[in-house]
Amino acid sequence: MNIKTASLDGVATIEIARPEKKNALTQSMYRAMADAILAAVDDDSIYSVLITGQPGIFTSGNDLEDFLKGPVQDTDAPLSRFMQALLGCSKPVVAAVTGAAVGIGATMLLHCDLVYLSDQARLVFPFVSLGLVPEFGSSLLLPQLIGHARATEKLLLGEPIAADAAVALGLATAMLPSSDLLAHAHRMAKRFNALPPGAVRDTKRLMRAGSVAGIIRAMEAENAVFIERLRSPEAREALQAFFEKRKPDFRQS
Ligand code: COA
Repeated sequence: MNIKTASLDGVATIEIARPEKKNALTQSMYRAMADAILAAVDDDSIYSVLITGQPGIFTSGNDLEDFLKGPVQDTDAPLSRFMQALLGCSKPVVAAVTGAAVGIGATMLLHCDLVYLSDQARLVFPFVSLGLVPEFGSSLLLPQLIGHARATEKLLLGEPIAADAAVALGLATAMLPSSDLLAHAHRMAKRFNALPPGAVRDTKRLMRAGSVAGIIRAMEAENAVFIERLRSPEAREALQAFFEKRKPDFRQS
């Protein structure tokens, strides 16, 4: 199983475990993550969800081979189900980011409630260099959170954000030595066990209420363009170049 789930002390942990492919996310992995989030929401013995990866890598984002095959991206598709499950999760979601968080690995963090980064972590939004556009509401959220000029560097130029910079920009809660990361994130997640679950749920909902409608509109707009771009000569060239381990040449596209 490339997604491992466990429940311990009120915390449902979702561990991305496909290290041989740098934790790239396939359709079945999105499905398993969506199911795990929905199950955690329904389980009265669970107070929070913790998402983590492998030492040195959180996730390299969507499996690029899947992108080459051009998967169906309707609202029932596993990727959409995962996005909807995370967006709608009424319990706090804690991320323990063990290393690089690329593509959806970075954009999913914008929807988590507590984000702890290992000192080896970095956030990368490489969509443009892949001939694609940002997803999961990040075209709206990132400029809102860090300002248009800084977001341009990250979204258009694909500049990686180092862990300490991500904390300084307000994209993450704290940075920790990698050896302490998971224990710290689990300890913080467990703190919700002692709090009144109804007040936690309502406060999370209120904190996000002002932005949810905009995020959903942004996701719809992004998805429409994303599907078109996935079929574009630019994206085909970028994806083929990745697997042929060469630099893409967009002059032909
Ligand atoms: N999809 C499919 N396979 C991937 C992948 C992805 N997103 N990311 C890595 N892999 C595979 C590589 O093809 C390679 O497979 P191989 O051993 O069969 O050749 C293996 O994982 C190791 O990757 P590699 O690139 O050699 O590791 P690295 O440590 O040098 O670099 C990354 C790690 C994450 C920086 C790099 O793999 C990367 O940039 N991946 C693509 C990220 C991306 O663009 N994601 C899409 C976002 S929309």
